[in-house]
Amino acid sequence: MTVLWGILGAGKIADRQMAPAIALAPGHELVAVMRRDLAAAQRFADTHVKYERTAGGAHRANTELAQRAYDSADALLADPQINAVYVATPPHLHAQHTILAAQAGKHVLCEKPMALTAAEARQMIEICGANGVALMICYYQRFNARHQRIKELLAEGAIGQVTAARINFSERFPPQPEFWHHDPTISGGGPLMDLATHCIDLLRYLCGPVESVSALADALVDESPVEDTATLLLRLANGAQAVVTTHWSTANHDPERFNQLEIHGTEGAIVAAPIQAKDSAGALQVMTADGIQDYAVEPGGPRPHVALLAAFADAVVGDQPIPIPGEEGLAGLAVVEAAYESAQAGCRITVGHISCQ
Ligand SMILES: NC(=O)c1ccc[n+]([C@@H]2O[C@H](COP(=O)([O-])OP(=O)(O)OC[C@H]3O[C@@H](n4cnc5c(N)ncnc54)[C@H](OP(=O)(O)O)[C@@H]3O)[C@@H](O)[C@H]2O)c1
Repeated sequence: MTVLWGILGAGKIADRQMAPAIALAPGHELVAVMRRDLAAAQRFADTHVKYERTAGGAHRANTELAQRAYDSADALLADPQINAVYVATPPHLHAQHTILAAQAGKHVLCEKPMALTAAEARQMIEICGANGVALMICYYQRFNARHQRIKELLAEGAIGQVTAARINFSERFPPQPEFWHHDPTISGGGPLMDLATHCIDLLRYLCGPVESVSALADALVDESPVEDTATLLLRLANGAQAVVTTHWSTANHDPERFNQLEIHGTEGAIVAAPIQAKDSAGALQVMTADGIQDYAVEPGGPRPHVALLAAFADAVVGDQPIPIPGEEGLAGLAVVEAAYESAQAGCRITVGHISCQ
């Protein structure tokens, strides 16, 4: 069976990452796209025309056929050919669009953040389950080849017992009229919702669940209703400590150096950067008593979005478990909710239990 995709929210991430990944992934086909601006949806559909896959990659097929374009979620979801939906609308629509897709019997791959609140996320999980469709969250960083290597290294005990981790994911991103990110009714928040959700998921993937959070979240630079600078101090369930920093207030001219992951253990340390590479490219060094092992990936390496699609297909066409189910998105969102609560109350919050310690 081919996974036949409809995209709800045919905007930037769909254009730059997911539609090209669908073209490259065997067993996947883009059928239809939706955004409210029908002319723009049609341009998107015309750009991402049907592809032929060759050993060297995906090439435009010699056909006049373009994908179908719609201007409403209901219209796209009524398309009988589609069996899976990529939800890439802004965050305030993730719950609504996921639920509509599930009720239409389509499997769902939902962008981060999964929803605006943990309560919405729970509802998404429940309704997808009730309708017998898969729900996966698009945390593509779990499919970055370097991050998967780190997971193996940790399992092998390469750096001994992990006691501490640090992740920074930051950039300068002031409010701009064309972006919805600074409107909390649409985005749910600032870099904590936008960037830290990635960091928390990566931390949970590599080091396990988060138990409690102390956080600072401030609008230090921009006149904005959302934070531009946040720092999280996390206690992991295995006792390790972690720090996540995420800013829209700091100019980051060297992502290789500053959008970085560090994991420290009793026998050594692992350092990787940048964390957001869309082709797995970047540095990965493991420092132990034996010296420094280098596992760098050159530009043009394995594409996480293509690997993510393969895993999605293994779950919905085959019999594999969904690798990042809604429950994982919910767990990450619960940490973000606890961080906001902590920042507001000025105390440490146990994840999932909104009470000061
Ligand atoms: N995983 C990652 O690395 C990553 C990176 C970037 C973004 N994202 C996530 O992906 C999602 C989209 O981000 P983006 O940067 O692609 O945003 P974007 O460029 O603004 O795209 C959003 C799309 O949704 C459509 N849309 C907006 N409001 C709508 C509404 N009320 N009803 C229906 N469609 C609507 C927009 O088109 P119209 O205005 O024409 O409707 C647009 O095509 C966000 O959740 C974001 O956090 C993830």
